[in-house]
Amino acid sequence: MSVPAHPVPARLLDATQCPTPHVSSMEQYKEMHEESVKNPVGFWRKMAKSNLDWISPFSDETVTQGSFSEGDIAWFPQGTLNVAYNCIDRHAAKDPNSVAMIFEADEPGNHEKITYGTLLREVCRFANVLKKHGVRKGDTVAIYMPMVPEAAYAMLACARIGAVHSVVFAGFSADALRDRMVDAQCKILITADQGLRGGKVVHLKKIADEALAQSPSVERVILFQRTGDEKVPFNATRDVWWHEECITQRPYCPCEPMNAEDPLFMLYTSGSTGKPKGVVHTTAGYLLGAYTSTKYIFDLHPGDIYGCMADVGWITGHSYIVYGPLANGVTTVLFESTPTYPDASRFWQVVDTHKLTQLYTAPTAIRALRRLGDAFVEKHSLESLRVLGSVGEPINPEAWDWYNTVVGRGRCAVVDTYWQTETGSIIVTPLPGCTPTKPGAATLPFFGVDLAILDANTGKEVPYDGSEEITGVLALRQTIPSIARTVYGDHNRYLDTYMRPYKGFYFTGDGAARDTDGYYWIKGRVDDVINVSGHRMSTAEIESALITHPACAESAAVGIADDLTGQAVVCFCTLKSHHADEASVAAALRFQVRTQIGPFAAPKAIVIVNDLPKTRSGKIMRRILRKAAGGEVTLEDIEDDDAIRAKLGDISTLADPSIVKHIVEKVKKAG
Ligand code: PRX
Repeated sequence: MSVPAHPVPARLLDATQCPTPHVSSMEQYKEMHEESVKNPVGFWRKMAKSNLDWISPFSDETVTQGSFSEGDIAWFPQGTLNVAYNCIDRHAAKDPNSVAMIFEADEPGNHEKITYGTLLREVCRFANVLKKHGVRKGDTVAIYMPMVPEAAYAMLACARIGAVHSVVFAGFSADALRDRMVDAQCKILITADQGLRGGKVVHLKKIADEALAQSPSVERVILFQRTGDEKVPFNATRDVWWHEECITQRPYCPCEPMNAEDPLFMLYTSGSTGKPKGVVHTTAGYLLGAYTSTKYIFDLHPGDIYGCMADVGWITGHSYIVYGPLANGVTTVLFESTPTYPDASRFWQVVDTHKLTQLYTAPTAIRALRRLGDAFVEKHSLESLRVLGSVGEPINPEAWDWYNTVVGRGRCAVVDTYWQTETGSIIVTPLPGCTPTKPGAATLPFFGVDLAILDANTGKEVPYDGSEEITGVLALRQTIPSIARTVYGDHNRYLDTYMRPYKGFYFTGDGAARDTDGYYWIKGRVDDVINVSGHRMSTAEIESALITHPACAESAAVGIADDLTGQAVVCFCTLKSHHADEASVAAALRFQVRTQIGPFAAPKAIVIVNDLPKTRSGKIMRRILRKAAGGEVTLEDIEDDDAIRAKLGDISTLADPSIVKHIVEKVKKAG
């Protein structure tokens, strides 16, 4: 796996062409990284003092406390600060006219520049609206918004007054929104009449109303008018209009002094079991992680125009559209559209129109654009770009090469950034000015990150001396400021998921290899999490959506490789009674997943089977389903015991071995 490395493009190190990178040699990286893991207290104390503004300082004696073993992590616990102040006020005070955000609306040609001065006023007005409606420090607020500046205003307004936001991606269904609002006991929902994406209307208020019918904690709905469609339902006793509320409010609102460990937000994410969990991030540590990682990994410099094409509904949007870039005082882009609307040159138009210096997107988008041909890219200059980022799933070398040569023209750094909702900020990544890259490798740990590769069976660290590649599960040996502190309402689940599987370590849930150059290669999830286009879903979540359908008796969801989306979901279902028209039952079951979770979770295929492959003790042998769904076992194999053993391993514990043939036949039929 030790493939030749791509050196840092010479242009990035040429001071006549580009600003000098913050880290411009491997020696400097190694020195900083070593200091950060050997002396995390000293390293993060310095970073926190020199880069964040504090209301009252933290104590030098208690920079960090707690451990993974106890799950009682805290950073800077004596300090107080406010995230909105750090992201807005301090920059507005220096230069209120510098641009904080560029809103690139769905329709090309429609964009708006928002200065730090305007951002301050808008966020303050909305913070006052929240206060007027009774929101206080510690209250939870749900945000279900399209990709408009008001989504960011709402998040920052919560941060300003100490409310805890829970952003729910606008592609989630009414049921999913309801579950999240009920779990978090949200008092307020902030949403919009409708969203616009790729020329299509998303009926947000209509979906929200369905969710609200079963969300008793929500007292007030603040409705932002995106399209102005008059048919949008409005409940006069519960709903108020964003614009009508803001116009009456003063454009200044004092910042609430927040303890470093007060929660800043929660964000629901899928794990290997049951319902999604509300991962809780706190104030100072999260902000420091977002600030530091954005600065070094995207090599931000004053005047940069940084574009992360994610959605604020995911952690990438939180850390790398809103908090990280704004804490650094650069210009961040909010992109409402899709990479292919109105055609596949949209990203490149945005890059050239706004002169983006960094572009951050997901492998799925890169693969989709690559398929549509180079011509869309080639007609654009893209000269302003210095750093190209990838996130959310493993990037295959072909997509990496295309990103590097066709988009980057060999003149940009490609950073494959690995992290998770729970880590809050990037943990494995190249740095643009120093790290030689290998297509498909996330390369090396970021500052403060002390990685371990563990043997999944013994739980012991796999020894590494650089003489040969090692593989195992990826874990963190010591805490980082931005790591999640708890699961909302269920700290025991936090301990069970992350801290207890390997005592003393934080368990990522991912498999990884470390090659002879010390580089890390992320291999994907080792638990029951499926990653479709960078969207994280659990098999349990999909299965419980399926079994709520009256026709479905049992279900099992598996992930298979997919050229475009990385992974795709295939579900196997047994029915309560025989149906002659299996195709229409399968369609109904597929629809069931769309309505219970969201359109993005719709399985690629639903295979109706007579039974699932179970052991005599009743456990489903998922590997049989995975291999059958992935087309790895053929009907010819079934007749050959050796081929079956080679492909499926030992299946002698199956209660009914003939089920394998049935499943393979059904997969074939389902296409
Ligand atoms: O499996 C890893 C994959 O995405 C998971 C985290 O998903 P989520 O919490 O939704 O956060 C997505 C944005 C960070 C990880 O456990 N993943 C993320 N980035 C990469 C990746 N897999 C491989 N390479 C990456 N760069």
